[in-house]
Amino acid sequence: MSFAPSDQAGDLRRLVEAQRREVRQNGGAGPRTVAVLSGKGGVGKSNLALALSCALADQGKRVVLLDADLGMANIDILCGISARFNLSHVVDGSRRLDDVLVPLEERLDILPGGAGLKEMADLDDAELAGVIDALGLLEDRADIVVLDTGAGIHKGVLAFALAADTTVLVTTPEPTSVRDAYGVIKSIGGVAEERELLLVVNMAASEREAREVADRIVMAAKQFLGRAPVYLGCVLRDETVGRAVRLRRSFYRLFPAAPAGACVRRLVDGLLGLWGGHREPSFAPKGFKAFFLRLSRAFFMEK
Ligand SMILES: Nc1ncnc2c1ncn2[C@@H]1O[C@H](COP(=O)(O)OP(=O)(O)OP(=O)(O)O)[C@@H](O)[C@H]1O
Ligand SMILES: [Mg+2]
Repeated sequence: MSFAPSDQAGDLRRLVEAQRREVRQNGGAGPRTVAVLSGKGGVGKSNLALALSCALADQGKRVVLLDADLGMANIDILCGISARFNLSHVVDGSRRLDDVLVPLEERLDILPGGAGLKEMADLDDAELAGVIDALGLLEDRADIVVLDTGAGIHKGVLAFALAADTTVLVTTPEPTSVRDAYGVIKSIGGVAEERELLLVVNMAASEREAREVADRIVMAAKQFLGRAPVYLGCVLRDETVGRAVRLRRSFYRLFPAAPAGACVRRLVDGLLGLWGGHREPSFAPKGFKAFFLRLSRAFFMEK
């Protein structure tokens, strides 16, 4: 996979090596990074990322939800906050990460990405090192960083899957969405083998329909790609999701007992079960700095 002009790649390789040494020395402590992504747009990623963040916070986890949709960031709208600053202000040095984080609940902060993630591509190595240091504040502050990403099978989105500890791939039962989910697995499968790849079927009419969709994807991926996601579960189609969007609150907070809310609780039980409560991911180094190092590598460097 080719991501960058080679002169930049040399600088970054050295930077990445230096920071990786530091991350190793620190034992790779820090939050687990979980990227929510999809091939097709409008499948419910942002609503799911917010709901999962709330549900993880309910389980005692300290969560930061990073709005990493490089095109159309909208987590602020979904949870009724107005963010004055975003990650680009950290990148240009005008704000500290603390000024940019918006507290939503006791254990949940929102981190608006804005153009900041894209701008990281234009930084020289010293500037990038500075930004990664600034982001290091999250190492102690969060147990889990959930990333809401944009849709699509292009490097701006796939980089998140390459960098995050866990990728939650979202599809609906519609054939177009299923085909694009398969496309994502095809694109990231070979290069991110050690990463956890999970599948969620959203807007399913029934658990049975969701299971059938998941089985089809998993079987096709096993047969033709040699790498398949693990089916985490589904979220049923539920009109409380749209109602909550209009009220600018998470459906999980407003209608926790509705079918979609119950599904999200099951997904979080599944996630915490997979992670064994507090067990570290086997593919250390983890943590937010380590995540950003991988992200910058995936954005700019040849794999
Ligand atoms: N389980 C569900 N049941 C019913 N409607 C849903 C469900 N999940 C999401 N929706 C609806 O789908 C629409 C798109 O949701 P959302 O914005 O979360 O998708 P997205 O994947 O983040 O979109 P984009 O690709 O544009 O970022 C919203 O209007 C939401 O109300
Ligand atoms: Mg979205």
